[in-house]
Amino acid sequence: MPDQRTPLIGVIDAGTRTVKFCVFPSQNIKELVEHAVDIAQHTPQEGWLEQDPKEILCAVRDCIKVVASKLGQNGIDDIVTIGITNQRETTIVWDRTTGEPLYNAIVWNDIRADTTVDQILAKVPDNNKNHFKSTCGLPVSPYFSAFKLRWLRDNVRVIRKAIKTRKCLFGTVDTWILWNLTGGVNGGLHLTDVTNASRTFLMNIETLHWDPLLLHTFGLPSTILPEIRSSSEIYGKIKDSDSPLNGKLISGILGNQQSALIGQNCFKKGQAKNTYRSGCFLLYNTGSTRVQSTHGLVTTIAYQLGNESPVYALEGSIAVAGAAMNWLRDNMGLINNVQQDTESLAQEVFNTGDVYFVPAFKGLYAPYWRKDARGILCGLTAFTTKKHIIRAALEAVCFQTRDILEAMNKDCGIPLTKLHVDGKMTTNNLLMQLQADISGIPVFRAQSQDVTALGVAMIAGAAKGINAWDLSAEHRESVPSDTFLPTTTEDERDARYTKWKMAVQRSLGWATT
Ligand code: G3P
Repeated sequence: MPDQRTPLIGVIDAGTRTVKFCVFPSQNIKELVEHAVDIAQHTPQEGWLEQDPKEILCAVRDCIKVVASKLGQNGIDDIVTIGITNQRETTIVWDRTTGEPLYNAIVWNDIRADTTVDQILAKVPDNNKNHFKSTCGLPVSPYFSAFKLRWLRDNVRVIRKAIKTRKCLFGTVDTWILWNLTGGVNGGLHLTDVTNASRTFLMNIETLHWDPLLLHTFGLPSTILPEIRSSSEIYGKIKDSDSPLNGKLISGILGNQQSALIGQNCFKKGQAKNTYRSGCFLLYNTGSTRVQSTHGLVTTIAYQLGNESPVYALEGSIAVAGAAMNWLRDNMGLINNVQQDTESLAQEVFNTGDVYFVPAFKGLYAPYWRKDARGILCGLTAFTTKKHIIRAALEAVCFQTRDILEAMNKDCGIPLTKLHVDGKMTTNNLLMQLQADISGIPVFRAQSQDVTALGVAMIAGAAKGINAWDLSAEHRESVPSDTFLPTTTEDERDARYTKWKMAVQRSLGWATT
């Protein structure tokens, strides 16, 4: 009798706040089983954010064990391969001989490398932050890994020594997990995929190799860097004797925003998605064209399947989206429950009472790229209540998205006519309606909000030699969605957007004056 059981694909999803392991049946967009663990966030100084690399790894191993026990031996046997998706840019360095981290992970939105930014800018004509964009697709910003890595080299003696003695290895979170699960000090695989590499500021997005000139500019040796591979190929096997997945293949790696793009089925040029979590990231598939943004967006790799040509994307990155709601709860004490209270309290008022909130806590990313911006609340009156402020915080996410859409439309020439969205924040119906009203285009919300894990499951399953997932359109189940249509006039939208831009102007330069 032929074996009729459905192949399963496991996914390690290591996000900024949560690590999870889950399993998808082949060709199915719904997870069969999952387990997730929150990761501690450490803020040793204002603007800094660190995580313990060992805690990330323990969380991965624990989640795998819990899912394996839920699945049982038959289920484990059915897992044909594993994919990894991860928070991008977060920087980890470790000792290749001991496997010990040499410092905490520096998280993507940590701004300690502000000073490194100034050092690098001092080396380029006119301090032009876009000087390297044609090579790596990115503007100069502490967001990207190379700035964090250079800060570590300059400020941590043990890391300088480990670099000199060739003991130091660098990786983003995907690489750290992969190296450890595939043997660690006993021959662990030191590699990353093109999407993660494209966020380091060190990869040439045309050649897909580490760029010697960029390495020279940052004073970093290539010996510490992982090998760059495609997003979908068999990299190797898990060698982790205690793990229920020991011996399983790993065949997909994607940065989490690129993974959501695939999970939303945005395989065609011109398709885009916006993911709302602690930050917010809008990716627009530009096919084989590397569109050079002249309006503040970044050019990044969307994915590369095996030895096929890479697919590119334009990205608008927003540093603070859901994080502003956490701030309202944790720092201001205005709400108790982020998901429920932001919606219920904000809809008790009809509008913000002309209040605007720019949550530039750590500067502004796209399209401004201003590390000197800081948060600002404008338009307060004696009439303002916390409900108006909460509503303004929700609108801030939508206005920042409109900023990105305006830039995308100018860069691409063809305006986006709809917006596919996902991520935890999208359960908020009011937010979704505000987004449609502020951007003036229909918003399609994925009913399964977590399409991030799905994306890497698809490409891990589609890797050559695995063939457990067919990516061709006719076999793809489309992601069911809810629709939110705009209810505002163009004049109303534009008048409010003009006010938002005024508020943004007031936030710029705050940290330097
Ligand atoms: O670039 C940072 C991004 O990958 C973070 O994603 O969803 O973990 O906050 P998330």
